[in-house]
Amino acid sequence: MKSIETFEEYKTAYQKSIDQPEEFWAEVAEDFTWQKKWDNVLKWDFDGPNVSWFDGAQVNLSENCIDRHLGTRANQVAIIWEPNDPNEPFKTLTYAQLHDQVCRFANVLKNLGVKKGDRVCIYLPMILEGAIAMLACARIGAVHSVVFAGFSAQSLSDRINDAECTLLLTADIVYRGDKKIELKKIVDEALLKTRCIKNVVVYNHRNSPINMQQGRDLWWSKLMADASNICPAVPIEAEDPLFILYTSGSTGKPKGVLHTTAGYMVYIGYTFKNVFNYQDGEVFCCTADIGWVTGHSYLVYAPLLNGATTIMFEGVPTFPDHGRFWDLIDKHKVNIFYTAPTAIRSLQAKGSDIFANKNLSSLRVLGSVGEPINEEAWHWYHENVGKKNCDIVDTWWQTETGGILISPIANVTPMKPAFASFPLPGVQLALMDDKGNEIQGNDVEGNLCLKFPWPGMARSVYGDHPRFKTTYFSTYKGYYFTGDGCKRDSDGYYRITGRVDDVINVSGHRIGTGELEDAIDEHGYVIESAVVGYPHDIKGQGIYAFVICDRHLDSHEQLQKEIREHVAKVVGPFARPDKIQIVPALPKTRSGKIMRRILRKIAENDISNLGDTTTLIDPSVVDKILAGRLATT
Ligand code: WT7
Repeated sequence: MKSIETFEEYKTAYQKSIDQPEEFWAEVAEDFTWQKKWDNVLKWDFDGPNVSWFDGAQVNLSENCIDRHLGTRANQVAIIWEPNDPNEPFKTLTYAQLHDQVCRFANVLKNLGVKKGDRVCIYLPMILEGAIAMLACARIGAVHSVVFAGFSAQSLSDRINDAECTLLLTADIVYRGDKKIELKKIVDEALLKTRCIKNVVVYNHRNSPINMQQGRDLWWSKLMADASNICPAVPIEAEDPLFILYTSGSTGKPKGVLHTTAGYMVYIGYTFKNVFNYQDGEVFCCTADIGWVTGHSYLVYAPLLNGATTIMFEGVPTFPDHGRFWDLIDKHKVNIFYTAPTAIRSLQAKGSDIFANKNLSSLRVLGSVGEPINEEAWHWYHENVGKKNCDIVDTWWQTETGGILISPIANVTPMKPAFASFPLPGVQLALMDDKGNEIQGNDVEGNLCLKFPWPGMARSVYGDHPRFKTTYFSTYKGYYFTGDGCKRDSDGYYRITGRVDDVINVSGHRIGTGELEDAIDEHGYVIESAVVGYPHDIKGQGIYAFVICDRHLDSHEQLQKEIREHVAKVVGPFARPDKIQIVPALPKTRSGKIMRRILRKIAENDISNLGDTTTLIDPSVVDKILAGRLATT
């Protein structure tokens, strides 16, 4: 794949992608292997919404990730697996070995009765089997739904039921730093609340004693040993579903964002090559979990599409110490490193002495993803990790966008700290004002929308297309609304300012305040709650809950503890509220709506001017809440 090498080339490519989008993407698509070429490049309307890319084509993502490279890269390492404990040996899979494993596992799936279109739930630690399973699903046209192994039994069963998965893939345990979490136990609990799972395939990762249910649970290694390693890549229709990935929004339960095959493949392959300026032979390391879209797109699929060597890291940045990332880069001679601002800030807080004896000279490009990166963290990353020699690409995108939409192009775009900078080719942005009009010119701020389809965009919410429309295409007619606020500065650079809806981003985890409120309200003493985010030095945002309790308690400590633990159990440990304030009432308008603007200001300690409170039923509530405010700075 040829890539953009100068800023002039970027501008030319961008212009072409606007003037002749179909020609532009058809040309990019030529770099992939098609079992059958397309009839149409693009058909779309944002009203349906109905979008199809490369309609009529047949293509197999797993073939493009693996088989296509076997002639030239059979013995090149495709994936390096770095274990949680650095003293244990790392593992590698060459492209030939990956091919063998993926074909075998695809046959395991088929032998268990999994057919094209069936949903397979993947609930695994960061081990090679996760990538193998995803690629095996793609190979036979099964739809994977990866659930992050930090989610609770409740979250897992909700996701399994929503997608009606028939097969679940899991392991005995998952590590969180030096702690072992009994993953199979969580699975057993989740499966009490599901009826669609026929089998559970269990990978024996650490030989931890687990319960195997006869007839339902099967050992991974046994099935693999019995399976053939011959499995031709099945022709998949361009718009056949590839995966479902759950993500939170303003309202309701998490949505199963649905991605399809051909457009997604073309888009992530292209953006990986360009954003990171990937050069043949380089080692790429993305620290995201495969349970998030970053892990799907830029840890597994896009690097393999480009014939890269990609790293899968099982551990966390702080175990056994806060030098772990830098040891990993040194050990595997990483050239491109892609991580999240929250990780950068947490390591920054621990100081820079740790860099003394680490050799980071292999690094060429650094990436940031998941939340706005503040200037201080940007400079720390640039100086201490990149030694001022590496471009930083601040990549803005979402689960729904499939791939990166706004980002500098490494070694091409002049950098501006904390700016995601410019839209990539094919990406047509619009900033909207409160009246629903597009804001023209520079030095402006508005709500970020897209006014034209790009190949990697989600096609639907699984099982609920109307919800896809109301969530993304109804706020501004004819536009996809991202939920983010954004500035365009006097030079035309874009800077994401954060969510403008009721979604909070805690350490890169996207959580709907409604989900948290539902969990809190389940406590027997709780009448009602309202949750908002507030700025947090390390996590980006912290969680502040205002809770009305149905009785007088001399001390709130026990209740706060129970609420925290309940949220951890229902949603996941990362969703534990940081602050829980017991309040006598919530600020409500006459129509019964909670005025979150006020709560946000209180949580942020921005209380000098709370704005107009006259529309509240009882404005005195605000003073009562202020009196019990918890410190957040
Ligand atoms: C939300 C999407 C993209 C994969 C990981 C998160 C925020 C993401 C950036 C960035 C500022 C960012 C946005 C977005 N976000 N990247 N570079 N700068 N904000 O995917 O869980 O779907 O979350 O993350 O608010 O809407 P996600």
